[in-house]
Amino acid sequence: MRDPEDKATLNATSIAGRADRLLPDFRRAIEAVPRESGFKGIGPRGMFFFYAAVRPFGPKQILESGRMRGESTLMLTRCFPQARIVSVEFDLDPTHAAIAEAKLRPYANAELLYGDSREILPQRVQTGDAVLIDGPKEFRALKLALRLLATGKPCAVFIHDFYRGQPARKFVERHWPGAFFSDDPALAARFRDLGSQIDPTYDPDSKHSASPFVCLPPNLPASYPALLFRIIWARAVSITVSKIVKFLLRNRSGKVLDSQG
Ligand SMILES: C[S@@+](CC[C@H](N)C(=O)[O-])C[C@H]1O[C@@H](n2cnc3c(N)ncnc32)[C@H](O)[C@@H]1O
Repeated sequence: MRDPEDKATLNATSIAGRADRLLPDFRRAIEAVPRESGFKGIGPRGMFFFYAAVRPFGPKQILESGRMRGESTLMLTRCFPQARIVSVEFDLDPTHAAIAEAKLRPYANAELLYGDSREILPQRVQTGDAVLIDGPKEFRALKLALRLLATGKPCAVFIHDFYRGQPARKFVERHWPGAFFSDDPALAARFRDLGSQIDPTYDPDSKHSASPFVCLPPNLPASYPALLFRIIWARAVSITVSKIVKFLLRNRSGKVLDSQG
């Protein structure tokens, strides 16, 4: 169901503007969610960004790629009780799978699938879906996002762990006008002010900040083949450069050891 109080606009300023109003509902939804210790999932601050961005669209279905122990999946099921949450996990590790399944058993709106989301999600995407990708990462995640957006169906695709300086992020900054990041200064400042209201464990003095999301809005900035070609090319260049750098560093440290005796 669409949120009648809010226009479904998707940019950093509009999300910052509706954050205060949506916070009480978000807090109620996640207050009983137990936190995983030792496994760093998306966490409440990242999830609040997703919630504040997506809630006005009232998606009937949310697709998640990368569930692991189900912490983010549980927040999705509680934050969007009217939506079907289709969550895909590649890894069959029985410990993580059992933990996620136990956590999500009480929630009839969660559908837990196993397999490669790059094969499963293009078959499951429906008009108006919101998509959250937390694995695969970087260029692989971008290729999956592109494939889903090219269907013309999602209201937006979000990719987690999109850090400044990473090749995939530089690619989006250069080739994807309309995309924006949760560490956009206006948004990050608003979320910092709301701090412990979003996440009771938030420590303003901690150097650890929430891992950023990129939000890719529904309209592609170029044709599917053109963007796909650019992504494949940029990934190949970044892999080659990193191999050359590793080779040079290995050679240099070998020479230092030789010269020491
Ligand atoms: C960081 S963990 C997910 C954490 C979870 N979203 C949370 O916040 O609690 C990333 C997960 O993505 C999964 N993954 C990676 N590539 C995938 C793919 N192609 N399809 C489905 N899952 C994938 C990994 O197996 C891993 O369990």
